[in-house]
Amino acid sequence: MISFCTKLAVSAIVLRRAILVGAAFALLPSFLTLSLVLAEDSALSKDSQVCLACHGQSSMKKDMADGETLSLHIKGKAFAASVHNAIGCSVCHADIDLAKHPAPSKKKQTLREYSIARVEVCSQCHEDKAKLYEGSIHASLVRAGNPMAPLCSDCHSPHAVLSKAAASGPIDEVPCRNCHGAVFKAYAQSVHGLARAKESNGGAPICADCHRAHDVTAASSGNQIKEACLSCHSNALQLHKRWLPNAAHHFESVSCPACHAPLASRRVDLRLFDSNTKERVREKLGVPRFENRTKLADSKGQGLDTLALQSLLKEFNRDNDEGDTILRGRLEVDGGPEAHMLTEKGKAIKDCKACHSEGAAPFQKVSISIVGPDGRQLRHGAQQNVLQAPTSVDSVRGFYAIGGTRIKLLDILLMLALASGVAVPIGHLSLKWLFRKYLLKSGKHPLPQDKSKVGSVTSDS
Ligand code: HEC
Ligand code: HEC
Ligand code: HEC
Ligand code: HEC
Ligand code: HEC
Ligand code: HEC
Ligand code: HEC
Ligand code: HEC
Ligand code: HEC
Repeated sequence: MISFCTKLAVSAIVLRRAILVGAAFALLPSFLTLSLVLAEDSALSKDSQVCLACHGQSSMKKDMADGETLSLHIKGKAFAASVHNAIGCSVCHADIDLAKHPAPSKKKQTLREYSIARVEVCSQCHEDKAKLYEGSIHASLVRAGNPMAPLCSDCHSPHAVLSKAAASGPIDEVPCRNCHGAVFKAYAQSVHGLARAKESNGGAPICADCHRAHDVTAASSGNQIKEACLSCHSNALQLHKRWLPNAAHHFESVSCPACHAPLASRRVDLRLFDSNTKERVREKLGVPRFENRTKLADSKGQGLDTLALQSLLKEFNRDNDEGDTILRGRLEVDGGPEAHMLTEKGKAIKDCKACHSEGAAPFQKVSISIVGPDGRQLRHGAQQNVLQAPTSVDSVRGFYAIGGTRIKLLDILLMLALASGVAVPIGHLSLKWLFRKYLLKSGKHPLPQDKSKVGSVTSDS
């Protein structure tokens, strides 16, 4: 009874307001519908109720310039439950003057233009998040006109934002899923996804824990993801050292998923690296050097061969001081979804021979890469034998020169090769290079330029 009276009273207030609005009144729904709307949404402020008197109706919509339809229906119940209920509608829609609303808008926009203009309001109160977002790969894609890249409102429905605590519910509600469906599917089956589905606050990561939510960067740039892994698995290096010689070196040149996603296919990515700045070579905006040069060097499109790779390096070296541009190798998985197929530790690749043996699968596919203007990789295929041809030892020397403690490791490699009796292509290459370096250092090098000689040293081992 009391609630019925309250309802009536609220309705009366709203009605009075609506009458004040005058022009808008003609569009008001019947008193009965209004009461029903209010019965649901009694937590709404009066201000919001005025708007929802019209916008609470599911049939409301508007045609946009591009022929798409903008639904004007706002669910009162969801809004009432959202963190923004307290601020009401008008704060974010300050441009709406009820005395003149609804005036058919003069500006003909597309849905996308409409959203881009509207979300600007978010930064008024969430400046910190907006700043982080502005530096993200997503924001740079938006600026470049990519219609698929997310705005604030694509990840946070502005009329139904839940508190952070309430939002960490089922994994399938993560906003990233809507656009990265294949990655999500792989993640959901991973050791983390399964753990997270079982217990949402059990500490297993979801997308934003590895990529961050607002300042999302290109996945392959920098060490951020690896650092995220190690921030939770802080003793990982120690644990790997127990069975993996020079684990730190492996962590440097083998990506974590390359061993922890055993079903993924793998490849070697040879990254152009500036030994002077100690950074990967980056493409400048509007200057497609990499694309032009790889096309030129690989006119048949069969993948760069050893000579083509050397001439590509020469081209890049012309931009810098001679010899600064080198290649750094990294063993990684072959695609986005595959990077997320992490399994429990028992299934991880532990067998040295999976990589250190003649014709090992991960070394059958090779790519050359550079960092694109937006941070994402630009890749070009290379022929597999660039890793093996003696003539390319020089051009891929970066791959084999990560770390710097080579001489000490020579013994380990030798022991490994001798003890197991297996051919060790990586080891071979390393040995070739190591031997040259070792002999040069000790002044014992027979013929510094004679690669066949160096090669024969290794085949004896
Ligand atoms: C009397 C009914 C009515 C009321 C009350 C009303 N609106 Fe509207 N509103 C409309 C109609 C009709 C349209 C579609 C106008 C058009 O076609 O451009 C609209 C359009 C909109 C739009 C989308 C178009 C634009 O210009 O951005 C927003 C946002 C909006 N209203 C917000 C509000 C807010 C906020 C309130 C409360 C302060 C409110 N409305 C109150 C009827 C109403
Ligand atoms: C936190 C800020 C915020 C609040 C509070 C807010 N809105 Fe919005 N509203 C937006 C943004 C941003 C958009 C544009 C969303 C988009 O299309 O990307 C929008 C869009 C709309 C639209 C156009 C339809 C649509 O879904 O895009 C209507 C109608 C609307 N709001 C009405 C309301 C009403 C009614 C309320 C109060 C119950 C309200 N808004 C509260 C930020 C807000
Ligand atoms: C790509 C999706 C995405 C985009 C775009 C995005 N967010 Fe978020 N946001 C998230 C996720 C996921 C969380 C929760 C996890 C977290 O905070 O790490 C979150 C959390 C938040 C929080 C609460 C965080 C806290 O720590 O209290 C605010 C506020 C927020 N976002 C505002 C914004 C604003 C403003 C924008 C636009 C400038 C924006 N978001 C763009 C995904 C996104
Ligand atoms: C007028 C100020 C204002 C505007 C504009 C605004 N918000 Fe908020 N927002 C708040 C307040 C107040 C809270 C609740 C207090 C808090 O946790 O920060 C909040 C909370 C949030 C949260 C949840 C934070 C948490 O810790 O749980 C997200 C996400 C969020 N806002 C996103 C947005 C987005 C997206 C927009 C633009 C569509 C927006 N906000 C516009 C004031 C605003
Ligand atoms: C509205 C769609 C949309 C949403 C939602 C979205 N993204 Fe994206 N994202 C894109 C698009 C489009 C690209 C650029 C194309 C690509 O690389 O897939 C991109 C790129 C990325 C990249 C860089 C990919 C690379 O090649 O390095 C990462 C990482 C990423 N998103 C993570 C996330 C995370 C994490 C979330 C959730 C917090 C999220 N995205 C939500 C559309 C979205
Ligand atoms: C050369 C392959 C390889 C690489 C590279 C590798 N791992 Fe592992 N990792 C393994 C294997 C094999 C195990 C299981 C060891 C065992 O159970 O004896 C393991 C175990 C683990 C465990 C479980 C530790 C425990 O004992 O509880 C974690 C966590 C882990 N790795 C994280 C990482 C992270 C993070 C990275 C990247 C920085 C990484 N791994 C790189 C092969 C690898
Ligand atoms: C445990 C950490 C982790 C989690 C959780 C995670 N990712 Fe990733 N993500 C990675 C790693 C590692 C890569 C590969 C980076 C590389 O190339 O070295 C990656 C790559 C990506 C890429 C780039 C794919 C491409 O085409 O190159 C996207 C997009 C992405 N993740 C989105 C997501 C989304 C969406 C989620 C949630 C469903 C998610 N990630 C969860 C670690 C994670
Ligand atoms: C937010 C913290 C967090 C981050 C970031 C994270 N993990 Fe995990 N990881 C966990 C938790 C918690 C578990 C245990 C899940 C369970 O209950 O089975 C786990 C489990 C694992 C396991 C299985 C261990 C076992 O005992 O079988 C591996 C392997 C692993 N993570 C590797 C990684 C890699 C690789 C990355 C980065 C790409 C990463 N993790 C990032 C928290 C994290
Ligand atoms: C997933 C593939 C993979 C697995 C599994 C793997 N390695 Fe490696 N290993 C590599 C790569 C890639 C390098 C780096 C080659 C280079 O940069 O010269 C490397 C380097 C090495 C080096 C030389 C390190 C240095 O600093 O010169 C040794 C020694 C080595 N591995 C031994 C092992 C042993 C022993 C195992 C088994 C317990 C093993 N590796 C398992 C891929 C692997």
